[in-house]
Amino acid sequence: MRESVCFYINGKKHEVAGEHAFLNLSDYLRYHVSLPGTKVVCAEGDCGACTVLISSLHNMSDGKLRYRSINSCISQLFQLDLHSIITVEGIEEEDKLHEVQSSMQKNHGAQCGYCTPGFICAMAGMTDNLIQENQKLDEKKSKNYLTGNLCRCTGYDPILKACEEINLSKIKPLYERYHNESMLEEFQSLSKKPLKINTDSKDLFLPIDEEQAFSFFDEKSKITSGATDLGVLINKGKLEQQKIISFNNIQNFHDVSKIKNEFHIGPRATWSSIENAIETDLPEYTGIIRIFASPQIKNQGTLVGNIANASPIGDGIPYLMVNNSTLELSSKGGSRIIPVSDFYKGYKKLDLNTGEFIKKVILPIPQANEWTKLYKVSLRRDLDISAVTFAGVVELKGTQIKSIRIAFGGVGPIVLRVPKTEDFLTGKEFNRENIFKAHTILESEITPMSDLRGSKEFRMTVARNLLLKFHDELATEKLSQKVEVTL
Ligand SMILES: Cc1cc2nc3c(=O)[nH]c(=O)nc-3n(C[C@H](O)[C@H](O)[C@H](O)COP(=O)(O)OP(=O)(O)OC[C@H]3O[C@@H](n4cnc5c(N)ncnc54)[C@H](O)[C@@H]3O)c2cc1C
Ligand code: FES
Ligand code: FES
Repeated sequence: MRESVCFYINGKKHEVAGEHAFLNLSDYLRYHVSLPGTKVVCAEGDCGACTVLISSLHNMSDGKLRYRSINSCISQLFQLDLHSIITVEGIEEEDKLHEVQSSMQKNHGAQCGYCTPGFICAMAGMTDNLIQENQKLDEKKSKNYLTGNLCRCTGYDPILKACEEINLSKIKPLYERYHNESMLEEFQSLSKKPLKINTDSKDLFLPIDEEQAFSFFDEKSKITSGATDLGVLINKGKLEQQKIISFNNIQNFHDVSKIKNEFHIGPRATWSSIENAIETDLPEYTGIIRIFASPQIKNQGTLVGNIANASPIGDGIPYLMVNNSTLELSSKGGSRIIPVSDFYKGYKKLDLNTGEFIKKVILPIPQANEWTKLYKVSLRRDLDISAVTFAGVVELKGTQIKSIRIAFGGVGPIVLRVPKTEDFLTGKEFNRENIFKAHTILESEITPMSDLRGSKEFRMTVARNLLLKFHDELATEKLSQKVEVTL
């Protein structure tokens, strides 16, 4: 049994025990190890000022670590056990600016400079990933990689110009510079031992297999996954954790596997790894993941965390409800499989017994005759929380609806299916007239509320329009029908 967290920062080993294991990485860097280059602005994962790069044995490519950006303000040290971390202080090479730093300097990419270390880390991570994948840099990729970094004074043009002028061939990538065989061997060896930390106020356990997890897990334990939901609550003082379990060191819990016509997704699989794995087979779901949060959040947050957090506007959930996805729930007594659409019993109420956790999400790959559309309506496209979400799958016989499954988020206490609307449409012609008739039934099945993101009337109108859009887009794309717009 180990009693301290072990990680490397900019190539130097750190071991942390006791209460310090629960510090946020940003605080540890700034106040405990004199690395104040990392800044904190929002402390909620929203602005990217605190961006650092991390990698672990779960992120390897050709025997080398693959660094990814995360927000250090919502990452506690125990989550970084057996990780290599690179901060802004570790980006320049032997007193020579990294190519991204030179380009930012040349293009005046900073004014107050507070966001700059976060941008530099995100940009260095981007160049590393592109070099590792043998890809070129273009404006679209720069914009995508930097979605999670906000700048309040420079404006984005100089920053994008700095990206445009980066010469990838001049860069010695971080995964080469920080490659360290003895560190990797040490991580391999330590990964065979569970980690337990007991303090006056907290118990923490990182098991290395499922059996060990059961020995600790009880009604008082709280699972920390990527902590992109939990970390925000902790920073806001809304959550005091006492008994914490993390599955981070259970190797196979990070897996995303394609088995026949299904994806099996482990509880520690991040949004980024899922996005890469499903891209070809599930393009609609990939489209939703593309506009989910930011790279920093997707590199830490998990699908399972999104499901268990049970937000009525959780973006991962609507599709799982309409494509017949299931959850494997595991406990000491064995495991059971339930449909995602039966998992939610009320606002934040789950069909999850004491001592049970989500072990796997099973996502079927749809048949060619099932047509899917997923929509997210939010105030802005990137890095925003949904006002209303929609998922629909329809199977037609000719132009008649053979089966239809529809789910909405943001229009009730949970993400919900609308069975009466589905029943009404089944067997009918797939046309605008029937969709308009279905609107009346839909209105009786959803109960939107007013909040900062929209009034209940707005949400009701959006829900009706999304059902219509679902028809119109499919009629145009798949049936090559001209849709007559008469509102
Ligand atoms: C800046 C920002 C942007 C965001 N943008 C979006 C967005 O666009 N769309 C969206 O839907 N969400 C968004 N989120 C919310 C969050 O990122 C997601 O919900 C994420 O998927 C949570 O995963 P996690 O691994 O971080 O969960 P955690 O925070 O670790 O855990 C969330 C909950 O799941 C429970 N849990 C974790 N693992 C298990 C398990 N195996 N079994 C049972 N319970 C478990 C935890 O105990 C906790 O209650 C955003 C968050 C931030 C901070
Ligand atoms: S300080 Fe804003 S994301 Fe961490
Ligand atoms: S330079 Fe001031 S916030 Fe970006």
